[in-house]
Formats: sequence, C-alpha cells, structure tokens
Amino acid sequence: MRTVERIAEVRAAVGAARAEGKRIAFVPTMGFLHEGHLTLVDEARRRAAFVVMSIFVNPLQFAPTEDLASYPRDRDGDAAKASARGVDLLFMPDAKEMYPREMRAEVIPCALHRRWEGEVRPGHFAGVLTVVAKLLNIVQPDVAVFGQKDVQQATLVRAMVDDLAIPTEIVVAPTTREPDVLAMSSLNSYLSDAERGRALALSRALFAMRDAFDRGERRADALLTAGRRVLDGEPSVRIDYLALANGTSLEPVETAEPGTVAMIAARVGRTRLIDNLVLGA
Ligand code: PAF
Repeated sequence: MRTVERIAEVRAAVGAARAEGKRIAFVPTMGFLHEGHLTLVDEARRRAAFVVMSIFVNPLQFAPTEDLASYPRDRDGDAAKASARGVDLLFMPDAKEMYPREMRAEVIPCALHRRWEGEVRPGHFAGVLTVVAKLLNIVQPDVAVFGQKDVQQATLVRAMVDDLAIPTEIVVAPTTREPDVLAMSSLNSYLSDAERGRALALSRALFAMRDAFDRGERRADALLTAGRRVLDGEPSVRIDYLALANGTSLEPVETAEPGTVAMIAARVGRTRLIDNLVLGA
C-alpha cells in the first residue's frame, strides 16, 4: 500500500492504475478504522482492481457544538489496518491540502438535510456533501462505497451524484455489528463499559420493530411502540428520534412496507449514536 498526502499524488497514482486498465473503487472515511470500515474495503475490492481509501477528519461537517479536536484519531494504526486489508492507495491529506483557503463554493443539500441528523447537526450535511464531492473529483473513482449505518448520508450522497451527474456508482454496504449486535462506530470508543451495555438498547429497539414487522404488523405507530418498549427499559438513554422512514426519500411513513427504514439516534452518556435497520430485508 502506498500512502500519500497530496492531491497531485492521488491523481498520478490513480491515473497510472487506470492506464493499466484497472477499475477504481473508493472508500472515504474519517479514520479510527474498525471492522465496519474494513468491510467497505472488501466490498470495494469485489468491484474493482484498485482500491483507494481516504482518511480525513473533515472540519466542515462538524456542527458548532461538536468538538473536532477530540474526534478519535489513530494514524499509524489506521495505515496498518488499511494495508492489511488490501487498500492500494491511502490518501491522508491535512486540512491545508483539502482547504488551502476558505471555501468559495460548497454543495447545498436538498431539504432532507433538515430532518433527522440534520435537525440536531446544523450544517453537517453541507460539509459532508462538499467534502465528498471534492474527494470524488480528486479520486474520480468508478465506484464509491458508503455504509448503511449513515443512511441519511448515503441517501444525500446518492442524490448529489445523481443531480450533479458525477460519474461514480454509489454502493451502500450493510452495517457491520458487534457479536451482541451493537452497530460498529468509531464513537463506540467513547463509551464506558456500563454505557456500552446501555447502548445495546438502540439496536434492540430496532430489532424489536423488525420482529413486529416480520410478524405482520404494518402500522408505524404500533411498530414504534414496540421499539419504545425496549427503550423504556433504559431510561438513561436519551432518544433524539425513533422513526420509520421511506427507504428512498427518508420521509416518515404511517404504514411500513419492505424497504422501510427503522432509524434511531440517541445519547448514551455524552456520546450520540445512530443506527437503522431496513425492514423486510
Ligand atoms: O462517513 C464518514 O466517515 C464521513 O462523513 C465521510 C463520508 C468520510 C465524509 O467526511
């Protein structure tokens, strides 16, 4: 694996791979890699002969209340994991390389950015889409792989690529879970042992909703009640939202169907976690 920090180096390495006739796949990340990120690399590898990963903690996507400086980082550990998993090119730019001056243009997300995550993280999705657009322009991959855990991000990225005619196929890979079904996240590292136990209520609530759906329940309020019953057992877990949304638009639904997404965001101690499950999948 080659590690580079400059945009020009990425362009040269990708250009050389393309000249050898290789398809290019891209996995954008903010680092502190876990098995979830590495399964995105596996997915990328299945689809292309040359896999590029970026690690960049993007200041633009941190809301004013969020702490960029304390975001977990592990440069050397990440490089070792990426290399062991077969990444060909690791792009680790610093903020000066990505944003040498104040940005004069940015991507404005569609109205969906005001719901769910966007409601509690103002400016977040404009920052995400702007950096993703820039990274896609730098790498120019045939395919880019995102995780289902960040379903709203994946939905907005798909919309952006579609609306702006960016010639990259977007693949969304399933959420990777710990053996006890907690969704993998770099933020799990902030949880104490006790909080980690309480955090399981998020995924259990979603699985309870899915079980009810699988038993034939379709009314959103009844499915949400099944999820809330689980969450009521962990009153210290503070829910931002528990919702059922259309799998394509992420608009709330009153009646669930196969493909409807059950979504949750909640605070466990000082850590805010999200998770979702596609019903009937
Ligand atoms: O999902 C992430 O890690 C980030 O939001 C992304 C897509 C790498 C953009 O900074």
